Amino acid sequence: MYSVRNVSEDLFWIGADDRRLALFENIFPIPRGVSYNAYVMMDEKTALLDTADYSVGRQFFENLKHVLGDRNLDYVIVNHMEPDHCALLADIARDYPDAVFVGNAKTFQMISQFYQLDLSDRNLVVKEGDTLTLGKHTLTFVMAPMVHWPEAMMTYDVTDKTLFAADAFGSFGALNGNLFADDVNFDRDWLDDARRYYTNIVGKYGTQVQAVLKKASGIEISTICPLHGPIWRENLGYILDKYMKWSTYTPEDKNVMIAYASMYGDTENAACALANLLAERGLKNISVYDVSNTHVSTLIAETFRCSHIVLAAPTYNAGIYPVMENYLTDMKALNLQGRTVAIMDNGTWAASAGKQMAARIEEMKNMTVLPTMLSIKSALHGDRADELEAFADMIVESMK
Ligand code: FEO
Repeated sequence: MYSVRNVSEDLFWIGADDRRLALFENIFPIPRGVSYNAYVMMDEKTALLDTADYSVGRQFFENLKHVLGDRNLDYVIVNHMEPDHCALLADIARDYPDAVFVGNAKTFQMISQFYQLDLSDRNLVVKEGDTLTLGKHTLTFVMAPMVHWPEAMMTYDVTDKTLFAADAFGSFGALNGNLFADDVNFDRDWLDDARRYYTNIVGKYGTQVQAVLKKASGIEISTICPLHGPIWRENLGYILDKYMKWSTYTPEDKNVMIAYASMYGDTENAACALANLLAERGLKNISVYDVSNTHVSTLIAETFRCSHIVLAAPTYNAGIYPVMENYLTDMKALNLQGRTVAIMDNGTWAASAGKQMAARIEEMKNMTVLPTMLSIKSALHGDRADELEAFADMIVESMK
């Protein structure tokens, strides 16, 4: 059965949800599933904007055929060449031999790399600002390199002021029938997944996202159609503000996140005692995560959200406990910057993780490591309560 939705009079969503996939990109858990959005513009000429992942190919083609009816497909606009959106291009090329493929020079290079598909007799290579008229609708192309791959571009429908934003403004999460962000409680049900999606997938490329946001600020946008997650047609300022913060590495909340790793519960005990002392000092919305039991993509998203981070971990093989090391590696890879960090470590005979964690943090941009580190010798006991109190005071002071 086809399953399509009107976005506007001439524009159809023909995507599909996948709730079977456990790991997006074979890395990120997606317990709420994911949607692959694709769109068809029905005008004097017809245009497909992106395809979908192979896993939803059957639904995608049924949707496409239903919307086209007895019309031909005239254009295939390829905004992004990651296989979760382009996996069906070769099938499209075969099934619609008259369709012209629209992309930039890098798009066609990647089509060739992935599919050895020769489209040289039916391609339209576009660059920034080029236009394509379908009839009533005129489309223009906005290059968006590294949001999230080098070939990424966006398509803007000048007529309806709709921005087809590729991966930007996307989110993990299946759509559950509600296609529009204003049909759901986005802040309650979607924001965490949107943040986790952005920070882990595009987080590294804040500068490039800023460049695209600057271009977007110069055009009037009434609707944003991303390749994953809900479509934005109301309150666009909400999601633009989030993107502004995320892409400039500005914390959303002034609060403390404690990320601890603990082999036998002793570092955990110290982290929990610290959380209580911070709460006693009036701090609200403290987050505490066991790094061993929290997927690193969630830790990263939370690190982008929070202003102050406490890292607590044992020494392991004279280094940093591996799950903490993995989190720090991801933090640096994703270009996280501008946070204040307090450090606790643990070691029964030669604690050194603290110094090593501090060194890793100091490799990142604009990070502040608070001066006093708290080093636990196997377990923290009441005889060191004053030290923990002073450690909590130092953190609170740093937030003023
Ligand atoms: Fe959803 Fe970069 O692909």
